[in-house]
Amino acid sequence: MASKNSAPVLTFKAAPVRVRVPATSANLGPGFDTAGLALDLYDEIIAQILDEPTIEIDIAGEGADELPRDGKHLIAKSMMAAFEAMGEKPKGLAIVSANQIPHGRGLGSSSAAIVGGIVLARSLVVGGDQILTNEAALKLASEIEGHPDNVAAALLGGFTIAWGGSEDAHAIRLTPNRDLRAVVCIPATAVATKKARGLLPEVVDHADAAFNVGRSALLVSAITDHPELLMAATEDKLHQDARKSAMPKSHALVQKLRAKGHAAVISGAGPTVLVLTTGFVSEEIAKIAGEGFETMQLNISSAGAHSTPLNG
Ligand code: HSE
Repeated sequence: MASKNSAPVLTFKAAPVRVRVPATSANLGPGFDTAGLALDLYDEIIAQILDEPTIEIDIAGEGADELPRDGKHLIAKSMMAAFEAMGEKPKGLAIVSANQIPHGRGLGSSSAAIVGGIVLARSLVVGGDQILTNEAALKLASEIEGHPDNVAAALLGGFTIAWGGSEDAHAIRLTPNRDLRAVVCIPATAVATKKARGLLPEVVDHADAAFNVGRSALLVSAITDHPELLMAATEDKLHQDARKSAMPKSHALVQKLRAKGHAAVISGAGPTVLVLTTGFVSEEIAKIAGEGFETMQLNISSAGAHSTPLNG
């Protein structure tokens, strides 16, 4: 690794940059900490380098009432971590974030902030894409997030398979079946990922592990080529039951939907319920979910986080 003295001096761009970053669902049933899917619901973030030592943050939409407005904001922290990884931090930053991804619902809002911040940082540096490649960006994002599944999908788009954990993350992007779409049932209250991860057992049964290995392999086939296998491919014995106490209504809805033939799972660490389908079933699912959930149909986002320079 380069020492601080030998670190290259970056050329920062003066103009602001805009990044669009998708919501993501992780696990998809059996693929715990591995499978990810990008969804067409986005946060849009604009950032600019400042010459003064200050961090200005403006937030609209989801999380606007509770998120910090200083260097503790996850976008600012992730941007600074990315600049540091590239060799030089700017004096200050101005960030404007318009958030559509709900927070604490298992739809990847923190991964969107982390990946959005990293992609913004490298977009604000001349040649940034070469200095901080996607491979390096994924490793950094996974270190900050603590697991690689959501950040992989937020960075690469489509359907992703991540491995190597938070310390040596890698991922491959696959193209989902063109008819695949998602329906999400979002409850009004959040569950912290940390709490949901704290409910997982330290040791799992060998038969349960073997069950999930088979279903995870099947999931790859079901999402890419054989969506008719989605029911079997989304079965899980490793994490959803263990988290039932933190999200009993979501857990019950998953059971109810599966009993009616819908491939329902808990999205990420929950409590959103995700249904993978090739049909137009959102009205039927909304009726089954009832008033406690906001139900929406989402297409799969083929694009991961990407920047768009702003003129003027
Ligand atoms: N794989 C992670 C978990 C996803 O289930 O804890 C968190 O969004």
